[in-house]
Amino acid sequence: GPEEPLVNGIVDAFQKEGLRIFGPRKSAARIEGSKVFCKQLMRHADVPTAEFKIFDHSEPAKYWVDTREYPVVVKADGLAAGKGVIVCNSSEEAKKAIDRVMVQEEFGSQAGRQAVIEKRLEGEELSVLALVGGRSILPFPPTQDHKALNDGDKGPNTGGMGAYCPAPKGTPELMAKIESEVFVPIVHAMKRARYPFNGLLYGGIMLTNQGPKVLEFNARFGDPETQPLLMRLKSDLLDLLEAAVDETLAEMDESKVVWDDRPAVCVVMASGGYPGKFENGKPIAGLDEVSRMADVKVFHAATKVDGNRIVTDGGRVLGVTALGATLAAAKERAYEAVRKISFKGAYYRTDIADKALR
Ligand code: AMP
Ligand code: GLY
Repeated sequence: GPEEPLVNGIVDAFQKEGLRIFGPRKSAARIEGSKVFCKQLMRHADVPTAEFKIFDHSEPAKYWVDTREYPVVVKADGLAAGKGVIVCNSSEEAKKAIDRVMVQEEFGSQAGRQAVIEKRLEGEELSVLALVGGRSILPFPPTQDHKALNDGDKGPNTGGMGAYCPAPKGTPELMAKIESEVFVPIVHAMKRARYPFNGLLYGGIMLTNQGPKVLEFNARFGDPETQPLLMRLKSDLLDLLEAAVDETLAEMDESKVVWDDRPAVCVVMASGGYPGKFENGKPIAGLDEVSRMADVKVFHAATKVDGNRIVTDGGRVLGVTALGATLAAAKERAYEAVRKISFKGAYYRTDIADKALR
């Protein structure tokens, strides 16, 4: 499920009633719910991340940005549906961003109570998802998202326009480094501080010239990374989630976590206008035909049933996902399916996975 119920304490509520649930408690979900909490935790656990400073008031923040090298990133503390992150190329831009976050409170009064200002990092982003239960960490194969709206990583940031798995950038050496420098210290620091993380921990990691650095953590499966990731999982996901809840992940060896060798690619079909304004209720054609294609699965993100039709009901509508013998073949297959699906104003990137094919 999404972050908001976790941050609001759905897991605590279930546990209070003696019900089983997979996910972090409210105290641990703060790793996604509060950027201030997340950055302080990373500093404390010595996890590599962008240099930063935290502000409670806009005036000192505006004073401080005069002394910075650019670009910097201004972030609202709380959940802002992926929108409270503003890249600034000058102190004028940074001051405007501080006003938007802390004075106009564009991302909400709670989210704008504090702000994090940090250095902008450069590089390619890797998404590393891991199941965490007790002392055990089970990392999943690396994935890569495409955050920008348009081909060539141009245009505004979105929730993600497509993804692939495995990401060749995530070599076994790099994954081992990320596990030991990021996941182990964070999980142990949280356990020691008595807000243990149990659930799915998602690390958004920038591959910089100085090595991997954490941009963010999410307390849930990532969208759209999860679509190509789970497309490759041959064993039962439920067994893994149960093992995380029961803290028996250490018993989940390679005989119990089986992956398809073939890569998978997911292409997001979005409503025209997203991430800005768009219209809902557009009938979707072609889903039946695509449902008969082998090695293809369409994940519905924002659709609803309207009479006997399926119509669009949000920004990112479908995650069209395919397996292929190679990454290039998986991409080809996913786009073959995308071309069979249509709705008024449908928009998608045409270059998902090209980064890894170059
Ligand atoms: P966050 O919500 O903190 O993860 O930020 C969302 C997205 O903004 C990240 O996935 C990156 O694409 C981008 N971003 C955040 N912080 C930085 C940074 N310090 N440098 C470069 N890009 C960033
Ligand atoms: N794809 C990024 C996220 O799920 O937040």
